[in-house]
Amino acid sequence: VSFERHDFDELEAIERWAVSETTPALSRYCPHTPTPKQQQFLALQTLEALYGGQAGGGKSDALPMGALQYVDVPGFAALLLRRTYADLSLPGALMDRVREWLAPTDARWHADSKTWQFPKGGSITFGYLETDSDIFRYQSAEFQYIGFDELTQFTRRQYTYLISRLRRPDGSSDALGRVPLRMRAATNPGGIGHRWVMERFGLKRDGTQTPNHPRPFVPARLSDNAHIDAEAYRRSLAELDSTTRDQLEHGRWVADGHGRIYPFDPEVHAIDGAPEIVRPFRVLGVDLGSSEIKPTTSFTDIEWDSYDPCTYVVESVKLPGLDVTGCAEQIKKRREDRDGYLAIVVDPGALGTGYIREFRARHHLPIVEAQKRDKLAFRKLLRAAIERGHVKYYRLLCEALEVETDELIWDEDGLDSVPGLDDHCSDGLLYSWRYSRAHFSRTPAKSPAPGTPEADEAEAARIKAREIEAHRARQERPGWEDW
Ligand SMILES: Nc1ncnc2c1ncn2[C@@H]1O[C@H](COP(=O)(O)OP(=O)(O)O)[C@@H](O)[C@H]1O
Ligand SMILES: [Mg+2]
Repeated sequence: VSFERHDFDELEAIERWAVSETTPALSRYCPHTPTPKQQQFLALQTLEALYGGQAGGGKSDALPMGALQYVDVPGFAALLLRRTYADLSLPGALMDRVREWLAPTDARWHADSKTWQFPKGGSITFGYLETDSDIFRYQSAEFQYIGFDELTQFTRRQYTYLISRLRRPDGSSDALGRVPLRMRAATNPGGIGHRWVMERFGLKRDGTQTPNHPRPFVPARLSDNAHIDAEAYRRSLAELDSTTRDQLEHGRWVADGHGRIYPFDPEVHAIDGAPEIVRPFRVLGVDLGSSEIKPTTSFTDIEWDSYDPCTYVVESVKLPGLDVTGCAEQIKKRREDRDGYLAIVVDPGALGTGYIREFRARHHLPIVEAQKRDKLAFRKLLRAAIERGHVKYYRLLCEALEVETDELIWDEDGLDSVPGLDDHCSDGLLYSWRYSRAHFSRTPAKSPAPGTPEADEAEAARIKAREIEAHRARQERPGWEDW
């Protein structure tokens, strides 16, 4: 066995850990034994430190661990932050995890203040900073430990303001006086704060830190965490696009998207001619535009089958100057041509939801409003599907989509498209594709592909089942019918 330098660093950290006075509180309240990397992070005494890199390494767990180290000290107060309340409170998220740890202990939960109170007088509070002005909620608060999870989702201002909340109350007891003041953060690369976080902690793109940087950085690796099924985790990461995989799977500090958002390549994704088979699931995506002159209302017609991971774009066009009635006519015409849709997904855009009400009430169209939450995340997922060749388009009627996606590029931060570029067809595709994937994942009965032995077997089974059913029906007929 050969040791590398970082192994010695780790051993040293473990040794320091072993003599640390903070172990009793942590081991009483946290059911997890910190991994060597987590111990290294927990042993740090500097004002700031970052635990960053690959997903699944145990970064998020390390934040509440750090808070628990000193909860035995009377007056000790810790704050754990996520960007939004949803991030904080969803099942499996920070608040939920800590509840699992602390519910069986003598710590008490106060729901109104989102605080765990410990018998010896320490406390841990949860909070979120949705807008920049949310920081003022903490104007008169004092903490000795502040933990940010997913730091790159915060603004620099939110982080630096909170540093000023790191202090000890006047006339602190001796014990509280000895507690180190700590800003601690965990994060994956990517997000709105990617740049400032890299700068503040001197990070390089390959996931290492410039030497002798004053703010410690502990690089996270998936392999640090023996408590996770790494293979299954890697498989789930394989669903992501190449940039996000670089960030989460490889822990590289590459910025979010650059170049084209939807990297269609006619060689790979275009199909010549018209569809030759009829697929059972069809959705129309409509992006409403208000321009009288420019073609800003788009209709994107997609279809798929449950045995095929691919989504097929049958048509994607843009039209100018449509009023409510004109638009409803377009939708109805398509619905007739296509023999009905599973759903018609509409983004009313600037025209507002009044349009959708009108479609429903006056034109009796069963409209589903486009899901626009987490648009960035879904753009990345659509991008991933394109990269895997799981979106194809019929070239004949998709010229507008081809031209548009050829030009549509990420903005400087890689979070949205460059302002001013057309995204009507691609938005129509995004919303209808989002609907299709939700439906796809809810449709477990995967019929096998036609022509395969599995398909023949399934057909034989169906015929047999039909015969049995017919036989049973004959048996159940009342006797007099047989006369
Ligand atoms: N020391 C540990 N002991 C047991 N389980 C752990 C430990 N550290 C992390 N885990 C678990 O492993 C999973 C991934 O850890 P998490 O902290 O969410 O990783 P990250 O934030 O780096 O993506 C979580 O379910 C977490 O509870
Ligand atoms: Mg995490």
